[in-house]
Amino acid sequence: DWNPGNVIAEQVERIRAQVGDARVVCGLSGGVDSAVAAALVQRAVGDRLTCVFIDHGLLRQDEAEQVERDYVAATGVNLKVVDAADVFLAALDGVSDPETKRKTIGREFIRAFERAAAEVVAEGAESGEPVRFLVQGTLYPDVVESGGGTGSANIKSHHNVGGLPEDLEFELVEPLRTLFKDEVRAIGRELGLPEVIVGRQPFPGPGLAIRIVGAVTRDRLETLRRADAIVRAELSAAGLDEEIWQCPVVLLADVRSVGVQGDGRTYGHPIVLRPVSSEDAMTADWTRLPHDLLARISNRITNEVAEVNRVVLDVTSKPPGTIEWE
Ligand code: XMP
Repeated sequence: DWNPGNVIAEQVERIRAQVGDARVVCGLSGGVDSAVAAALVQRAVGDRLTCVFIDHGLLRQDEAEQVERDYVAATGVNLKVVDAADVFLAALDGVSDPETKRKTIGREFIRAFERAAAEVVAEGAESGEPVRFLVQGTLYPDVVESGGGTGSANIKSHHNVGGLPEDLEFELVEPLRTLFKDEVRAIGRELGLPEVIVGRQPFPGPGLAIRIVGAVTRDRLETLRRADAIVRAELSAAGLDEEIWQCPVVLLADVRSVGVQGDGRTYGHPIVLRPVSSEDAMTADWTRLPHDLLARISNRITNEVAEVNRVVLDVTSKPPGTIEWE
C-alpha cells in the first residue's frame, strides 16, 4: 500500500547508505521537486546538506521569499542564497529571441551555481567532510523521458534550467526517481513543507523572462509580476487551482494599443491570460473560465497595473499552440 510515510522512511535509509559521512549540495529552484528532494535528504543527513538558491530575479511575486523564509522555517535547512538578479538582467539586456533568452539564462544559472557549489565544497574541505553528492529532483516521468539509466549522463537538459552542470564532479542523489508529481506533493505535505511551495503549479526554469514577449527589463518584470499576482489570487479564490494545470500570464511588451481611462487616452500593453487544463503538459486544452471571473481579473489588472490597458484570453489548444508563448 502506497503511503508517504513509508516512502520517506525508505528513502531516508537509502540516502544514508549512499551518502555515508560525506556532505551534499542541492540547488533549490523554487519548485516542488527540488524542495521535496532537498527536504528528504535533509531528513536523512541533517546539517551535512547545504542548499543553494540562485535568485535570478525572474520568479513571481513572493516566491523567492517563500523559499528563503517559509521553506527554511519549515525544514531548518542550511541555505545559501545568491542574489543574482542584476547579473541575469545584464545578461538578458536587449535579448528578445526566446531561445537566446533560454540559453542566456541557462548559462548564467550554471555559472552562478558552480560558483556557489565551489564555496560549499571549500567549506566541506575545511570541515574534513568532502562534498561528494548533488541532489536532483528527477521524477519518474523525467527518467522515462530521458531513456532511464542512472548517474549523470541521462539528466534531461532539453529545457530544464535547473539541469546539471556538465562538468561538476558529483555523484547524484535522486530520491524522487520512482515517483510521480502527485506522490511528490503528498511526501512534501507529510514532511511539513509550506503549502505555497508543495501546491505550486509548474513554472518554467527561465521564469518570467519567457512570459515577456520582447526584451526583459526590470520595469516589465514588475508589471508582469503584479498582473500575475492578481490572476493567481483570483483563480485561487474561485477554487480553480485543481482544475487548472497552469495559467501563464504573458506581457506583450512589444505591442501597444490605444485605450481610454478617465478623461485620457492611454497607449499601453496587453496582458494575455493562458489558462490550460492538462494531464502532462504534452497536450492541453484552454480552460473555460467563468465570464464573471474573467471580468473581475480584467477589471483588477487594468485598474491596478498602470502600464496595462487591455486583457486578452488565449483560446488555443496545444497543439497547435504551446502552453508558454515563448
Ligand atoms: P510548452 O510551452 O512547451 O510547455 O507547451 C510545456 C511545459 O513545459 C514548461 N516549459 C518549461 N519548463 N524550462 C522549463 O523548466 C523551459 O524553458 C520551459 N519552457 C516550457 C511549461 O511551463 C509547461 O509546463
